[in-house]
Amino acid sequence: MKAAKGNGTSRANTTHTKPPRARRYKIGQQEIVMGDCLRALKRVPAESVDVVVTSPPYNIGLSYRSYPDRREEEDYLDWMLEVAQQLQRILKDDGSFFLNISGSSAQPWLPFELAVRLRDLFVLQNHISWVKSISVGEDSFGHFKPMNSQRFLHRGHEHVFHFTLHGDVRLDRLRAGVPYKDKSNIARRGHRQDRRCRGDTWFIPYETVRGRAEKFDHPGTFPVALPEQCILLHGREGARVLDPFMGTGTTLLAAQRLGCYGLGMELDPEYVAIARARLKDDLAS
Ligand SMILES: C[S@@+](CC[C@H](N)C(=O)[O-])C[C@H]1O[C@@H](n2cnc3c(N)ncnc32)[C@H](O)[C@@H]1O
Repeated sequence: MKAAKGNGTSRANTTHTKPPRARRYKIGQQEIVMGDCLRALKRVPAESVDVVVTSPPYNIGLSYRSYPDRREEEDYLDWMLEVAQQLQRILKDDGSFFLNISGSSAQPWLPFELAVRLRDLFVLQNHISWVKSISVGEDSFGHFKPMNSQRFLHRGHEHVFHFTLHGDVRLDRLRAGVPYKDKSNIARRGHRQDRRCRGDTWFIPYETVRGRAEKFDHPGTFPVALPEQCILLHGREGARVLDPFMGTGTTLLAAQRLGCYGLGMELDPEYVAIARARLKDDLAS
């Protein structure tokens, strides 16, 4: 905290403002902490989390309700490193940390800078491309967000870095996989089931929405199928799932649908309210 100006002798000059106490909410097997994730993470026991799926602010100037998404780059990377140190501490030895992030035309290096910073803490076990829109021949799939530029290509994908502590985590590739296209492969190659690995390119389009309200008035959500896929791939029944930057609760929704125990952290009360409503609606449906 910045020292108050003056002679420093009066008590009034040295007042400390305590950050507000975090509020907790429980919806079925999901728990939400409303408050700063760095503070909240420090209270989570060591080696207690199976899967982290998160999408932090990308530092590209998105208009969140309360978080200002534009810091000095070094400051942002130092902050992310501090969060990641906590994640390393609370992840189980065979845990998975899925980090979804993207750069921008102005900051194309940022996701890579961050991944390199995390090198001392984690092994990069897989690098998944989350494809949001794609053109195949003359056809196209997914939501195309037009971009006016002579220099830059339309951004159709984001990164999902799959970090683990030692690079040796066994995954359930088939549960997160797809059926064979050519069924003759099953007998020919001696597979026991009609299922193969999905690979590291995941086409997951956004659901079509007609306005911001249908996106919960949040500028940076991911589709529920993304955290679902990550949790399935990690493949532990009843896993303990964490999202320190929970936003509208998409990761917790995925955890709920898969019978897992989720813990979400979020600064903004409105986003917390949306997450609680989504979880309750889903439980009731
Ligand atoms: C990219 S969004 C996550 C969106 C989420 N994946 C979803 O589908 O709704 C990042 C979120 O982090 C929140 N945030 C920023 N700083 C935070 C902090 N220190 N602690 C907790 N949440 C924070 C922002 O308010 C924002 O909602």
